[in-house]
Amino acid sequence: MQPHVLVTYATRYGSTKSIAEEIGRTLEKLAIDVRVERMDRVQDVQPYDGVIVGAPIYRGRWLRDAVRFLRSFRHDLQHRPLAVFGVGIEMWDHKIEGLRLDREHIAEALKKVPELAPVSIGAFAGVLHYQDHPFWERFILKRLGFPEGDFRNPSSIRGWANALGFQYLPPARETKLLPVAPPEPPPAAGGPPTL
Ligand SMILES: Cc1cc2nc3c(=O)[nH]c(=O)nc-3n(C[C@H](O)[C@H](O)[C@H](O)COP(=O)(O)O)c2cc1C
Repeated sequence: MQPHVLVTYATRYGSTKSIAEEIGRTLEKLAIDVRVERMDRVQDVQPYDGVIVGAPIYRGRWLRDAVRFLRSFRHDLQHRPLAVFGVGIEMWDHKIEGLRLDREHIAEALKKVPELAPVSIGAFAGVLHYQDHPFWERFILKRLGFPEGDFRNPSSIRGWANALGFQYLPPARETKLLPVAPPEPPPAAGGPPTL
């Protein structure tokens, strides 16, 4: 039967939504039945074989809505493969240091729901446009040295989603292995060269 997976997200400015949608499209290509839905609209996770929860990072914290979501569905989430992802700017240059920082913010938030052990934690660079933010936030962003721009990287998002997708797929049917031919004896010294 086709696995049924929920990709749910919280967002303030839309970039986490777009990443959730990209994850959804990638899983669909693996013949997984996917529903992408905003976190505050999700009523139940029981109909799903797997759940992916994504939220942005603001001021060193994975958005609280995500922790609230995990907490309120923790009993059902314990019984199905759960993956989480965060979106931030600290990894804008896709270098390891920013990625480590953002993964730490997510791991810190996950400590609040110790009953849950995600099968995978993704961290993706998002989008930041200073003009979308009030002047006092711009001030903070400048002080933090966060650069402006769209740093989403489709190949890293798709790569993560693909790897994850295989965990939701049913196990591959028995594969028939071809008999292995015995190794050929080495050519006699001075004989014709072999390819
Ligand atoms: C006030 C403010 C604080 C932020 N703090 C962080 C942060 O601590 N770490 C980080 O990686 N990104 C930080 N960001 C960047 C956002 O995570 C990034 O813009 C993300 O793509 C926003 O996701 P959204 O569009 O789904 O809301 C911050 C952005 C703003 C406006």
